[in-house]
Amino acid sequence: MKFFLDTANLADIKYWNDMGLVDGVTTNPSLIAKEGGSFKSIIRDICAIVEGPVSVEATSVDTQGILEEARTYAQWSDNIVVKVPFIKEGVSALPVLRDEGIHTNTTLVFSANQALIAMKAGTSYVSPFIGRLDDIGHYGMEIVSEINDIKRNYSFKTEVIVASIRHSLHVLESARLGADIATIPASVLEKMFKHPLTDNGLERFLADWEAVEK
Ligand code: G3P
Repeated sequence: MKFFLDTANLADIKYWNDMGLVDGVTTNPSLIAKEGGSFKSIIRDICAIVEGPVSVEATSVDTQGILEEARTYAQWSDNIVVKVPFIKEGVSALPVLRDEGIHTNTTLVFSANQALIAMKAGTSYVSPFIGRLDDIGHYGMEIVSEINDIKRNYSFKTEVIVASIRHSLHVLESARLGADIATIPASVLEKMFKHPLTDNGLERFLADWEAVEK
């Protein structure tokens, strides 16, 4: 499973990328706003660090506006993927962008039927928002399983990005379901390293090693 980092924080991206764990990055308007600074320079800086796909969200809500934004962002770097909201105007933009060779990530997806439509319209990636479904009492991971089934049944080329990940179990379940990609906040990736037995075990090995004659 590929790991994308779900952040626009350059320090976090550099840190985890240097460890070889970052296959791509996803951003959204909220993540960009959190960092402050110019949108374009943040995205260009991310693209200079990361070799893999970097998702940048279009904020227009009409097809023409989405197309224009997408064409602009696609010129910023070869690895730009344009995030398109799952609205009819966004879906209409998907086949046009596909035919122009611009990669898209359909975002704000909350059902398998929405994902099916996005896949048929030619999206490169589809992002089901798992945590936000859990928040309202739905089992978010269920739709990842449904989308994987649909993708397999019809051999869609779209890659599934499990998004809105809130904790390490979401990552584990994504991997067990065979999701293509999980986009992970840096705080969750940090927690995935933690196990008290690892810390205790290392402490004991190092203490015992002290007693060995060298
Ligand atoms: O990539 C989209 C995702 O970041 C949304 O996450 O935590 O705002 O639901 P969240």
